[in-house]
Amino acid sequence: MTQAFRGKQVIITGGLGFIGSSLARRLVELGASVTLVDSLIPEYGGNLFNIAGFEKDVRVNISDVRDEYSMSYLVQGQDYLFNLAGQTSHMDSMRDPYTDLEINCRAQLSILEACRKRNPNIKIVFASTRQFYGRPDYLPVDERHLLRPADVNGVNKMAGEGFHILYNNVYGIRTCALRLTNTIGPRMRVKDARQTFLGIWIRLLLEGKQFEVWGGEQLRDFTFVDDAVDAFLLAAESDKANGEIFNLGGDRVVSLRDLAGMLVRANGGGDFVVRPYPADREAIDIGDYYADFSRIRSTLGWQPKVPLPDALARTLDFYRKHLEKYL
Ligand SMILES: NC(=O)c1ccc[n+]([C@@H]2O[C@H](COP(=O)([O-])OP(=O)(O)OC[C@H]3O[C@@H](n4cnc5c(N)ncnc54)[C@H](O)[C@@H]3O)[C@@H](O)[C@H]2O)c1
Repeated sequence: MTQAFRGKQVIITGGLGFIGSSLARRLVELGASVTLVDSLIPEYGGNLFNIAGFEKDVRVNISDVRDEYSMSYLVQGQDYLFNLAGQTSHMDSMRDPYTDLEINCRAQLSILEACRKRNPNIKIVFASTRQFYGRPDYLPVDERHLLRPADVNGVNKMAGEGFHILYNNVYGIRTCALRLTNTIGPRMRVKDARQTFLGIWIRLLLEGKQFEVWGGEQLRDFTFVDDAVDAFLLAAESDKANGEIFNLGGDRVVSLRDLAGMLVRANGGGDFVVRPYPADREAIDIGDYYADFSRIRSTLGWQPKVPLPDALARTLDFYRKHLEKYL
């Protein structure tokens, strides 16, 4: 992997966000020439502090993936596109379904059209989600599971993924998709619960306040961001990934109640309370979920390396130092 990206032109949409900026940092270390495209819409996860320390080693283009003219220009001459720009809030997608549609669905098609017309030799890795499996019929969930999105965001991300695979199959533009599960680590959004409930738990814990666990018995898996970055790089460099969809997963399965306990222990103290789900959240909740990630393990040799307690400790360490930059 170390040689594959040296001297290559790489563009990351959503590159000032949590996962995009972590990927950017790694690609700079690997010698790639990196362009970050991000709209920095305040309600979303983009943050210039995410590239603190290597801001001079990347090109930053503050533009919106909904702008077809910008994207048509930006994809030219690129070897790799990591497509991570997204509206990530499930609740926002229910309150404002059209914005979610524009970003997670329509803009994805126009990015692919830009590549088809201007740069069909590019390789694209799309940040997809496990969300649109909906309430699982069986566990662990593999890639053959029925797709039954539980919210507007899920429908639009499913279409975004579908367009990517279609452009591989019909036009031969090399694409693949990673269905991410809850991804955690330094630079995740902690201001509120828009990206994940764990973010707001971390914020409240570090502010010395009690946090709320809704439900508590739901089972989940978590990927540490560095492991997710490994998966993006492996998928980009391997032609075995072309046209494929891969689940990512975690090193273990935990209930949210146990996760809260683990977080409090990693922090050396803190307090939480378990409450019933609010009705609007319960309506779009997917219940228990954890992934079968054997397809990416056997095809690309990926598996999570960072144990969940370490992932939590590393995340808390980061926010102990930098919380004010994320509020
Ligand atoms: N974090 C997770 O647990 C998780 C799980 C499943 C899927 N994903 C997917 O991974 C991708 C990255 O997620 P993240 O966790 O880093 O979230 P994030 O919010 O930190 O990053 C997304 C970035 O996209 C940018 N963006 C949003 N709309 C844009 C637009 N119209 N034009 C340009 N930039 C725009 C945001 O400013 C932000 O920087 C998303 O597509 C998300 O759906 C994440």
